[in-house]
Amino acid sequence: TLLKSHGRPPWYGEDGLPICDAFVIGIAGGSASGKTHVAQQIVRSLGSVPTVVILSQDSFYKRHTAEEIALAHANRIDFDHPDAIDMPMFAACLADLKACRQTNIPVYSFAEHQRLNETKYLYGAAIIITEGIMALHHPDLRSLYDLKVFVQCDSDLMLARRIQRDVKERGRSVEGVIEQYLRYVKPAFDNFVSPTARHADIVVPGSNNSVAIDLISTHIRRQMTERARHFRKHMVSQSVECCLS
Ligand code: C5P
Repeated sequence: TLLKSHGRPPWYGEDGLPICDAFVIGIAGGSASGKTHVAQQIVRSLGSVPTVVILSQDSFYKRHTAEEIALAHANRIDFDHPDAIDMPMFAACLADLKACRQTNIPVYSFAEHQRLNETKYLYGAAIIITEGIMALHHPDLRSLYDLKVFVQCDSDLMLARRIQRDVKERGRSVEGVIEQYLRYVKPAFDNFVSPTARHADIVVPGSNNSVAIDLISTHIRRQMTERARHFRKHMVSQSVECCLS
């Protein structure tokens, strides 16, 4: 009946947009600053309800030619410049998820330096946490966030963590990680990543951050309660309108 009288499902407003968008959090910070850990801790602290997904900007590295892949294995490709990431695709996928539309996320292999031929289907999360070194870089992305976070961490700690992680999980050598760090990662951090901290609503330390995570989770829970109240009010007013018409 509701669909008949309004020509649209009741969870869409008159402007055709969903009444309740997903709540989107953008987490930026240097490589190995602890972004993923902060995202996971927020999920843990929110509990199992409502549905939360973590979307990594790393999934959106561009496709490379065979020549570029050979250069990447020799640490001669700059993966820390904003142009290395397919920002329009990232913003489009995020906008779809925010508007509760289904989307397909690319899958990227750090060992192969390549986007794989598979995608990951995502749909229906109430809270989306995106994380990546350039998560706060582009204005189109920033406009999608309801909360912007920057993870601030000492450079030496980030380098130490990166060496451990890249050797263990991304198939790299210690020498290669250091070479790439000095040539690309550190300069890009100073030029492109660190300056985006000024866009953040909250700056979180890269370790010993349980209080900051608690504050963030409390804020998200409050926002979700407010949205649920707004949604219930809208649904009641739609039912009343429908009964009267
Ligand atoms: O997970 P994290 O934020 O550290 O991932 C970003 C880092 O991944 C960048 O600093 C970039 O140097 C690195 N990267 C890489 N090889 C690729 C793609 C990205 O080392 N093929």
